Amino acid sequence: MHEKVIVILAVLFVLMGKAEFTNHTANVKCAELFKCSITNGVSMTCDTLQLITIPKCTENIEKLIIRSGVIERLYNFDFPQALNTLEILAVKNVYLKKIDKMTFENLKNLVDLDLSENFLRTIDPELLINNVHLERLNFSSNMIRKLVANQFPLPNLKTLDLSNCNLELVDETAFLNTTALQWLNLRTNKLRTLSFQVNATAILLNNNPWNCDCYVYWSIKQYTTDENFESSTCMDPERNQLRIWNDTNLSDTICEDEIRQNANKSKKDKNAREDNAPDLIITIYGYVFVALSALICMCCCCDKPKRKVSSCS
Ligand SMILES: *[C@@H]1O[C@H](CO)[C@@H](O)[C@H](O)[C@H]1NC(C)=O
Ligand SMILES: *[C@@H]1O[C@H](CO)[C@@H](O)[C@H](O)[C@H]1NC(C)=O
Ligand SMILES: *[C@@H]1O[C@H](CO)[C@@H](O)[C@H](O)[C@H]1NC(C)=O
Ligand SMILES: *[C@@H]1O[C@H](CO)[C@@H](O)[C@H](O)[C@H]1NC(C)=O
Ligand SMILES: *[C@@H]1O[C@H](CO)[C@@H](O)[C@H](O)[C@H]1NC(C)=O
Ligand SMILES: *[C@@H]1O[C@H](CO)[C@@H](O)[C@H](O)[C@H]1NC(C)=O
Ligand SMILES: *[C@@H]1O[C@H](CO)[C@@H](O)[C@H](O)[C@H]1NC(C)=O
Repeated sequence: MHEKVIVILAVLFVLMGKAEFTNHTANVKCAELFKCSITNGVSMTCDTLQLITIPKCTENIEKLIIRSGVIERLYNFDFPQALNTLEILAVKNVYLKKIDKMTFENLKNLVDLDLSENFLRTIDPELLINNVHLERLNFSSNMIRKLVANQFPLPNLKTLDLSNCNLELVDETAFLNTTALQWLNLRTNKLRTLSFQVNATAILLNNNPWNCDCYVYWSIKQYTTDENFESSTCMDPERNQLRIWNDTNLSDTICEDEIRQNANKSKKDKNAREDNAPDLIITIYGYVFVALSALICMCCCCDKPKRKVSSCS
C-alpha cells in the first residue's frame, strides 16, 4: 500500500518537475545567436538592426517581438508548427512589404499581432483566417489604400488599429464578420467619406480630408467617438476647403433643412415626371392626329383630279 502511494507521488513529482522546468536551452541559444534578449525562456525580443529573417531556431515560445531589422517579406515557412504556442507576435518597423498567404497558418493561439510601421500595401482577407483567437491587430503606419469586403473575418477581434495607413476606401461591408470589434482607429488617413456597418463602441476618425457636405457630416457625427472631431479640416467641397467642420455651415439645423429640402426636391422631381407623363401621351396623340389628318388631306388632294378626269371621260 505504502509503496503504491510512494510510486504515485514520485510519478507526480516527475511530471510536475517536467512541466515546471521545461528545457529552454534551445531558445536561449537561439536568442544568443540572433543577438535577441530572452526572459523565462519563452519571451524573446529582437531589437537588432542586422536581423534579416525571423529566427527559426525557437520552439514553444509564447511571445516574439521584433522591432527593428530589414525583413521585407514573410514566407509561408517562417512560423512552423513548433511555434503554435505563440500568443503575442510583433514584426514591426522592419520594411515589411509582402506577406505570403499561409504565413500565420500555424499560429492557432495568436491573440496579439502587431505589423505596424511597415510598407504593406494590401491585406489579403484570407491571411488571418486560421487565427480565430486574434483579439488585437495593429496595422498602423502602413500603405494600405483600401479595405475590401469582409476584410477581417475574425470572430474575436476587439481592437484594430489602422491609423496612418493612407486609407482612401473602406468597403461598406469591410467589418461585416468582425462582430466583436470594440475599438477601431482610422485616424490620419485619406478618407473623404465613410459609410460602413460596424458595432464598435469607439471609432476614431480624426485627421482625415473629409468632404464636408451635410451627408458626410451626419455619417461621421453618427460614427465617431473622437471628442474634437469638429476640428477636422475639410478638403471638399471647394466652398469648405481647408475650413474646419465648426467653421462650415454644417450645423445640425442647417443640415436637417438641406437634407429635407433635397428630399422634397427629389420628391417634386418625381412628381413632376409623373405629371409630365399624361402630357406626353397627349403630345403623342397630337402628333398622330396631325399626321393622320395630313395623310387624309393628301389622299383627298390626290384623288380629286383623278375623279375629275374620270368624271370627264
Ligand atoms: C536541454 O537541452 C539541451 C539540448 O537542447 C541539452 O543539451 C541539455 O542537456 C538539456 N538540459 C537538461 C537539463 O535536460
Ligand atoms: C499600434 O502601433 C503603433 C506604432 O507602433 C503604436 O503607436 C500604437 O500605440 C499601436 N496601437 C495599439 C492599439 O496598440
Ligand atoms: C461572414 O459572415 C457571413 C454571415 O454573416 C457568412 O455567411 C460568411 O461565410 C462569413 N464569411 C467569412 C469569410 O467568414
Ligand atoms: C452588430 O451586432 C448585431 C447584434 O449583436 C449583429 O447581429 C450584427 O451582425 C453586428 N454587425 C456587425 C457589422 O458587426
Ligand atoms: C465646435 O463647436 C461646438 C459647439 O458649437 C463647441 O462646443 C466646440 O468647442 C467647437 N470646437 C472647436 C474645435 O472649435
Ligand atoms: C453661412 O451661412 C450664412 C447665411 O446662412 C452666410 O451668410 C455665410 O456666408 C455662410 N458661411 C459660410 C462659411 O459658408
Ligand atoms: C417638404 O414637404 C413637406 C410636405 O410634403 C412640407 O411640410 C415641408 O415644409 C417641406 N419642406 C421644405 C423645406 O420645403
